[in-house]
Amino acid sequence: MKKIFMDYASTTKVDKEVIDAILPFFSEYFGNPLSLHLFGRIVHEALDQSRKKIADLLNAKEDEIIFTAGGTESDNIAIKGAAYQNKNKRGSKGPHIITSAIEHPAVLETCKHLEKQGFKVKYLPVDKFGIIKIDDLQESISKNTFLITIMFANNEIGTIEPIKEIGKVAKENNIPFHTDAVQAIGKVPINVNKLNIDMLSISSHKIYGPKGIGALYIRKGVKLQPIVHGGGHEKGLRSSTHNMPGIVGLGKACELAKKRMEKDTKYIKNLRDKLIKNTLQVEETYLNGHPEKRLVNNAHFRFTAVEGESILLGLDEKGIATSTGSACSSMKLKASHVLTAIGLSPVESNSVIRLTLGRDNTEEEILYVSRVLPEIVEKLRQISPLWGK
Ligand SMILES: Cc1ncc(COP(=O)(O)O)c(C=O)c1O
Repeated sequence: MKKIFMDYASTTKVDKEVIDAILPFFSEYFGNPLSLHLFGRIVHEALDQSRKKIADLLNAKEDEIIFTAGGTESDNIAIKGAAYQNKNKRGSKGPHIITSAIEHPAVLETCKHLEKQGFKVKYLPVDKFGIIKIDDLQESISKNTFLITIMFANNEIGTIEPIKEIGKVAKENNIPFHTDAVQAIGKVPINVNKLNIDMLSISSHKIYGPKGIGALYIRKGVKLQPIVHGGGHEKGLRSSTHNMPGIVGLGKACELAKKRMEKDTKYIKNLRDKLIKNTLQVEETYLNGHPEKRLVNNAHFRFTAVEGESILLGLDEKGIATSTGSACSSMKLKASHVLTAIGLSPVESNSVIRLTLGRDNTEEEILYVSRVLPEIVEKLRQISPLWGK
C-alpha cells in the first residue's frame, strides 16, 4: 500500500544531513559543553555554531538565541517570563497582554494560566480569513500593556498575520512583540530587525530536525524572569544540561532551511496549488484561511455535509496521512477555536481536513490524492443525512 505523508504541519522527518550531523554527539563528542576540559571545549564550539546558524536564519545575533525544549517551552519562557518581569505594573487595570483568538494552545493556555494569577489578557478577534485587524490592536493597547504575542502563521488554516504592521505598532508604543513562528520558520523569510520582532519561538521538529528541541530569540535589552530555575544555563532562562544532539540537529536544520527555502517553497507551493485547484472542483468544497496570505504548504478544506474525521479515516485507508486540525486538538471533540474564530459553525468546523505538504511530496502523490479524496467525499455524502438538504 502507498504511504503518503501530508501532515507536515504536525511534524517532519529528520533530514539525512541532520542525522549525520547529530550522530557523533551521542558518543564521540559526549562532553558537557560547560566543562572546562577538552571534552567540554569541543562541544562548546558546536553549541556556539548552532546558535550562529539559528541567528543567521533570523538575521539576529548569536547571543540573542537561547535553546529550549521546543516551541511550547519557548512560548512559555517568553510569555510567563515577560509577565513575571512586569507583575508590578499595577495600574487601574493590572498588567496586560495582547494576543489573538487563534493562537496555538502553547500561547493560549499560557495566557489563560496568567489570567488566573491576575494578569489581564485581550484576545483579538480575527476576520473570516483568520487575520487580526491592526485597528483592534491599536485600540487594545493601554499603559499597562507589557507584551504583544501574535503568531506568525496559524498551524491549522495556514494564514499569515500582518507581522510587519504588528511590529511597527509594538515599536511605536514601546511594547515588546513576541511571535510564535513555529509554523512559519523555513517557509517565510524572517528578518527580526526589519519586522521589529523582539522575541520569536521556533521548534526543530517542524523543519526536518529532531523532536524535543527549540529556540527562543530574545532581542538584546528585553528583560524576562526565568520560569525554570537551576544551574543558570542559557542566561539563566533555561537551566538544564544542554541537549547537544538536539541542539546540533536544530542548528543544521536551520542552516538547511536557509539554503533550501527558495527552492523548497517554490516546489511545495506549486504542488499545493495543484492540490487546491483539483480539490475545489468537488462541489460545495471551500478553502479555509486566506487564499494568498497563507503558508505555502497548507491546504485546509471544508466539505459540506461530511465529517472531517471520516474523510481522514478514508484517506488513511488509502495510505494518505492527513489531519483535521492541530495534532494536539485532534483527540478532542470540541470544535477548533481557530475555526470558531473565523466564523464557522460547530457542524462546519467538523467538516474540515488539513493537508500540509513537505519536501518529499511528489506530483504523482498530488494526482493520487486528487483522485482519491473526491471519491471518499462522494461516498460519505451518499450516506450523509445532511447532504442535499
Ligand atoms: C504554532 C505552534 N506553536 C507551538 C507548537 C508547539 O511546538 P512543540 O511541539 O515544539 O512544543 C506548535 C506545534 O504544533 C505549533 O504549531
